[in-house]
Amino acid sequence: MALSVYMFFFFSLLIFWCLFIKKHKKPKSTLTLPPGSMGWPYIGETSQLYSEDPNVYFALKQKRYGPIFKTHALGCPCVMLASPEAAKFVLVTHAHLFKPTYPKSKELLIGPSALFFHQGDYHTKIRRLVQNSVSPERIRKLIPFIEAEAVSTLESWVSAGQVINVFQSMKKFSFNIGILSVFGHLESNYREQLKENYCIVEKGYNSFPNRIPGTTYSQAFLARRRIQEIIREIICKRKEKRLMEEDLLGLLLNYKDEKGQTLSDDQIADNLVGVVFAAQDTTASVLTWILKYLHDHQKLLEAIKDEQIAIYEANDGGKKPLTWSQTRMMPLTYWVILESLRMASIISFTYREAAVDVVYEGYLIPKGWKVMPLFRNNHYNPEYFKDPHKFDPTRFQVAPKPNTFMPFGNGVHSCPGNELAKLNMLILIHHIVTKLRWEVVERHGGVQYSPFPVPLHGLPARFWMSH
Ligand code: HEM
Repeated sequence: MALSVYMFFFFSLLIFWCLFIKKHKKPKSTLTLPPGSMGWPYIGETSQLYSEDPNVYFALKQKRYGPIFKTHALGCPCVMLASPEAAKFVLVTHAHLFKPTYPKSKELLIGPSALFFHQGDYHTKIRRLVQNSVSPERIRKLIPFIEAEAVSTLESWVSAGQVINVFQSMKKFSFNIGILSVFGHLESNYREQLKENYCIVEKGYNSFPNRIPGTTYSQAFLARRRIQEIIREIICKRKEKRLMEEDLLGLLLNYKDEKGQTLSDDQIADNLVGVVFAAQDTTASVLTWILKYLHDHQKLLEAIKDEQIAIYEANDGGKKPLTWSQTRMMPLTYWVILESLRMASIISFTYREAAVDVVYEGYLIPKGWKVMPLFRNNHYNPEYFKDPHKFDPTRFQVAPKPNTFMPFGNGVHSCPGNELAKLNMLILIHHIVTKLRWEVVERHGGVQYSPFPVPLHGLPARFWMSH
């Protein structure tokens, strides 16, 4: 009897437990991490990512795992996304779920208040000021100064009478335009001081970050401090003169929010350095690629010459300055720029960090993981760009499908300087093809990463006047 009561009690408990558990058991999560290999612990796949041609690395991964895969790079777990829809998801429609992320050591060299490290109100207000500083109304006024800078660059190539490292020279050109757009006409002694210190900062940017005196990083850190002092001095002079300039410095200095709050000198300086940083190597790499592509496609070069010589002749053999509307009527040159941006894909991908657990296409992207939309994979996908390895500017006669062509990113952090960058390229190409002939010395091709892809050894080339 005692046994049957006990058995009854035991089985009731069992049935109750089974029913309770069945009812309350969490449904088994169907979420899995994306496919992919994490490589070696800590080192992960950083070496492959940076030492191999990213074309090969990303293409292989995509072939093996599809458009979403996980890996481990720069000490962090990452999810790489290689489809236009995924890039739109991360950068545009669900941008609030992902935050910008940069190593602290790099943030310190650029300046922690620079807009690209931020989100929300602060980012929005600074971005608006940067956008205004490079609006079409403003950059059209820069044309004569960009032309002067272009002409002086060309003269330096010809007068040197020797092989030029094109990338290094393009860096000088784009640095000077960067300074012009942020400071307007800056006294030459300040420009030289900024240049000198900026070169030291740049060297440290990709070096191992330690502050032991004498190391490249610590020298860069000190040079960055000197830049802050130089900019403070420039700000002080501007304030004394009460000048109301339209350049970025002027816009940042005059900014007041609804409560009357202004920006601090450090916030201003960090953003000025940030914009010069964002403008320089990017523009210089693409310009270097353009010279290489034109050199390798002589027929195309002849066609571009025809387009530009017509404008040159309309301007009295180059005596009159280029006008804004002329720069809007260079279709073939413009397509060459777009095709060079696609082929070179100098920004192969960008980084964000998942601010919360995110589910995309049934896969879990855990909070804290890096997320990398891969622009290059879309730029080289034959579904969107037929025969993707062929340099064919005429493909841009038809606009690419949405979100497949993103040389300037997309969404809240997309490049505010893209029109200025394209204007610089149009003007420089105009002067190069109407005045010069050139021969590339390094004939074997090859790419170096510094950190953007650039033709090997910076594209050594010789230049002559063509008439
Ligand atoms: C060919 C030249 C250039 C290329 C390919 C380029 C590309 C890009 C890309 C892809 C981004 C977005 C990065 C991301 O989403 O993480 C970006 C952001 C940015 N670019 Fe450019 N850029 C170029 C030239 C310039 C120039 C001339 C300026 C100067 C005004 C500039 C200023 C910026 C700034 C300030 C940002 C950050 C925007 C933000 O965080 O809101 N860029 N650029």
